[in-house]
Amino acid sequence: MKELDAIKSEVLSCQKCALCQHRHTVVFGEGCSSSSLMCIGEGPGYYEDMAGRPFVGASGQLLDKILDVCGFSRQRNVFIANIVKCRPPGNRAPLPEERAQCLPYLLQQIEIINPRILVLLGATALQGLIDSEARITRLRGRWLEWNGRWVMPTYHPSALLRTPELKRDAWEDFKKVIDKYREVVDANHFSAYH
Ligand code: URA
Repeated sequence: MKELDAIKSEVLSCQKCALCQHRHTVVFGEGCSSSSLMCIGEGPGYYEDMAGRPFVGASGQLLDKILDVCGFSRQRNVFIANIVKCRPPGNRAPLPEERAQCLPYLLQQIEIINPRILVLLGATALQGLIDSEARITRLRGRWLEWNGRWVMPTYHPSALLRTPELKRDAWEDFKKVIDKYREVVDANHFSAYH
């Protein structure tokens, strides 16, 4: 898609914050450019920085599994992006000024892809996009309305890897995403488990 390619080429040479000094590759995001569903994470880790693709490490493999049981995939119906597009050193959370410099790119991606539903993976995504004071533990599993889109905050897959007991709650959240997708995108959407 032309408009998305235009921002992509801008992002790939971005030097607006210090994260550009240590990055190996800019991670623009990937997936179906006409997706009605978009997942947003925090920022690239080591493997994403090496590959130039979002969510390819351990948490990415878990995310792909979750999406798969929900009937979603990057190839068919999801776009995956992050709050920041370059890896913060040592995988620290991105700083407020780094998030602020990168946010306009994400907002443009959202405008162009125009998803009906956003899934925010973890506190950084929730705070970076919606409210810097918001708590993921309080808001996860609740629908928010933001700029005419449905937003579901849930746990980051890396939190699920660290604390497997959270998986039960995360599955409840993703079942709500499947239900909303059937309601506002495709009444016949197939998921093997819900
Ligand atoms: N964690 C994230 O938040 N994003 C990625 O792309 C990979 C891991």
